[in-house]
Amino acid sequence: MKNILVTGGTGYIGSHGVVALIESGYTPIIVDNLSNSSKEVLENIQKITGIKPDFYEIDLRDYENLESVFQKYDFEAVLHFAWAKAVGESSEKPFYYYENNILGSLNLFELMEQYDCKKIIFSSSATVYDSIKSPPFVETDMTGNTTNPYGTTKFLIENILKDLVNHKSFQVVNLRYFNPVGAHKSWLIGENPNGIPNNLLPFIMKVVVGELPAVQVFWDDYETKDGTGERDYIHVLDLIDGHLKALNFIEKSQENTWFFEVFNLGTGSATSVKEMIQFTSEIIGREVLYSIKPRRTGDLPSSFCDPLKAEKVLGWKAQISIKEAIEDSYNFMKKR
Ligand code: NAD
Ligand code: UD1
Repeated sequence: MKNILVTGGTGYIGSHGVVALIESGYTPIIVDNLSNSSKEVLENIQKITGIKPDFYEIDLRDYENLESVFQKYDFEAVLHFAWAKAVGESSEKPFYYYENNILGSLNLFELMEQYDCKKIIFSSSATVYDSIKSPPFVETDMTGNTTNPYGTTKFLIENILKDLVNHKSFQVVNLRYFNPVGAHKSWLIGENPNGIPNNLLPFIMKVVVGELPAVQVFWDDYETKDGTGERDYIHVLDLIDGHLKALNFIEKSQENTWFFEVFNLGTGSATSVKEMIQFTSEIIGREVLYSIKPRRTGDLPSSFCDPLKAEKVLGWKAQISIKEAIEDSYNFMKKR
């Protein structure tokens, strides 16, 4: 059984990754500092898979403790999810974002080099695309001109990984996620941020369960199908399936080939804010209240990807509908 280091493995996406790795016969080892997740997730992973993965409460910035994990295991590859990811907060606390995301990643990469584990799947984001171009975004499109420190840290680490491919023979699959939503079919793991959510579907869910009064729709006069913002929402299970395909791609590649392969992970179609609210109303069988607010700084009218490269090269394609994703998020919220 191959050991896979999963940084951020108790987080929203990472926990789904851990479940999928176990179910595919890998042994995931989790490193997470629990800054945005809790140990309860481990029990839920055990309820789903029957296995409680090895877990280390370690901050990636803590080189010595991180090294102790590399000393203990021989890793086949790393799935690097650990990150501070709140866009708004990143503008308020840029230094924390640089330190956490960049220094943490540098420690990880240095240890990977030292312990000769150079295969990595990196969780990048659609946010790295230069918004000067209209969607659909293709992997070869320009990146940069990021609008917040969170995006800047993703952009910088993508570029650092390119250097490590060229100079330290890393094998990198760089996955640019569009908008992950939904929850595991057991509804035991999912996304439930503390406080007021930044992202749309978690916000809608808090309204649905009565924890917030109404959805704030950030503007309804964009040049989109109904004036509200459009995004490429992808079910977290589809997203994770993309990671398994990426892992397979890395494992099949020859040892002496070094690459930085970028793949968009999205559905290729866009859903508007009003459609998300409408679909949720249909699923829960009652109206979801909303009000129109001014546009949010940094928002694009529309963002969606061209997912064809992942289909051609990895044999991956998103399968689950947006309505099913909303249903899974709702069931997870009811069950938590
Ligand atoms: P999350 O916050 O739920 O998970 C991230 C995990 O990393 C958390 O459990 C947190 O405790 C841990 N962590 C943070 N800093 C750490 C550090 N210094 N050391 C150890 N652990 C640390 O976020 P998520 O939604 O699961 O996102 C996973 C990855 O996917 C992130 O890299 C994120 O930027 C990326 N991504 C997410 C989205 C999204 O909408 N959720 C979109 C694009 C990209
Ligand atoms: C946001 C981040 C992006 C990050 C992504 C995934 C910003 C500017 N961008 O993208 O960098 O990679 O999350 O974490 O924060 N909306 C509302 N009301 C809300 C919340 C959102 O109307 O309460 C709208 C937005 O205007 C947008 C859509 O819903 O049109 C989706 O928003 P969100 O879920 O925050 O994702 P992104 O804007 O794509």
